Amino acid sequence: MTHNLDSLFRKDLPAPAQPWSGLAAFNFVGGNNDAESVPVADLAAAANRVLTDKGQLLATYGLGDGSQGYRPLRDFIAANLKRRAGLACGADDILVTGGSLQALDLVNAVFLEAGDTVIVEEATYGGSLTRFRRLGVEMVSLKVDDDGLSTEHLATILAELKARNVRPKFLYTIPTVQNPTGTVLGLERRQQLLRLAEEFDLMIFEDDCYADLQWTGERPPAIKALDESGRVVYCGSFSKSVAPALRVGYIVADWPVMRRLLPLKTDGGNGALEQMLLAEYAPAHFEAHVGALQKTLKRKCDTMIAALQEQFGAAAEFRVPKGGIFIWITLPVSVDTSKLAAAAIQEGVAINPGAEWSTDPESGRNSLRLCFGSPSLQTIRDGVARLAEICHRETGIPVRGANVVRGED
Ligand SMILES: Cc1ncc(COP(=O)(O)O)c(C=O)c1O
Repeated sequence: MTHNLDSLFRKDLPAPAQPWSGLAAFNFVGGNNDAESVPVADLAAAANRVLTDKGQLLATYGLGDGSQGYRPLRDFIAANLKRRAGLACGADDILVTGGSLQALDLVNAVFLEAGDTVIVEEATYGGSLTRFRRLGVEMVSLKVDDDGLSTEHLATILAELKARNVRPKFLYTIPTVQNPTGTVLGLERRQQLLRLAEEFDLMIFEDDCYADLQWTGERPPAIKALDESGRVVYCGSFSKSVAPALRVGYIVADWPVMRRLLPLKTDGGNGALEQMLLAEYAPAHFEAHVGALQKTLKRKCDTMIAALQEQFGAAAEFRVPKGGIFIWITLPVSVDTSKLAAAAIQEGVAINPGAEWSTDPESGRNSLRLCFGSPSLQTIRDGVARLAEICHRETGIPVRGANVVRGED
């Protein structure tokens, strides 16, 4: 008889996991990347070189570089942030993490306790929402428009919180290719945001994991690059630019925060091979690789937009994303996308229902997120057509023959 451990488990655990049942045939969820774009040959050559030259470093925890990560990788991250995000920092300001998910956990662990308040974009990364909810943190929802978060709304929120004597722990924002809206916060708003942060003594947690995938318009400097008072903590990742399975992300923080983060990182350091591999691969190849990846992803994005227009017509409203791997779509209010997602997965189509990507689940009830990074162009076309069929059958939307634009006619 199997021993029943239920009475021993903590009472506040999340719902138990289900065994892995594989990816859906039309998989429009998850931050997966384009498989053909993984630079396999260059990565293999880099792995071979770095192991041959420096393999002995594996004998020492942290590769002999202490608890912040492999020094040559941190040097690359610093140089890359200077070049691409205008952010001047050194290797000592950087902590390598297990993807940016570990960065989220560490920053949350340093700042948040149950009952604290954070300000969060109204639609945001589901992984951050579940974290804030588990921590018992109060979320205040911040409006996002075509140009990213609304600084006007932020000013109102900050004044209201101040009037109630509530000091938010931080604003969590994804300013560059926002997940899920695909918007980019422009330079002027970044400056306004920092002025407000000064006025209200607000800390900002900038999650920039998609910034290398911005292909429309010029990439603005990171908010942290404009920060003169050490009030921005920044995190980034190689998941979207190189490969998510490598699990390499990083935090950039000034020492007053860094010295609080380090004692909480008790895992003995992240995997050495992926750090060594990236440090060897990236200096010579990162720029060209990311340029090519952006072109591939833009083609997939264009294909998904065309499929949505063809299959859903005016029923699907969305902004054209400025980069990244997803589109945030709003359907008529009669469509509950959580129900749609449950019906669609039975037929092999996986989508993110908007409620799971919204600070206020009700406001995202008729929205959904579709990821286009990993499916092929044909899978995108077929999957969107299948989704439209299911949606029509379940909800009557899109109305066939009425509002569907087909090709050129
Ligand atoms: C906004 C945002 N932050 C963090 C992550 C975590 O990514 P990773 O841990 O792979 O860097 C994701 C993943 O999709 C994300 O969308």
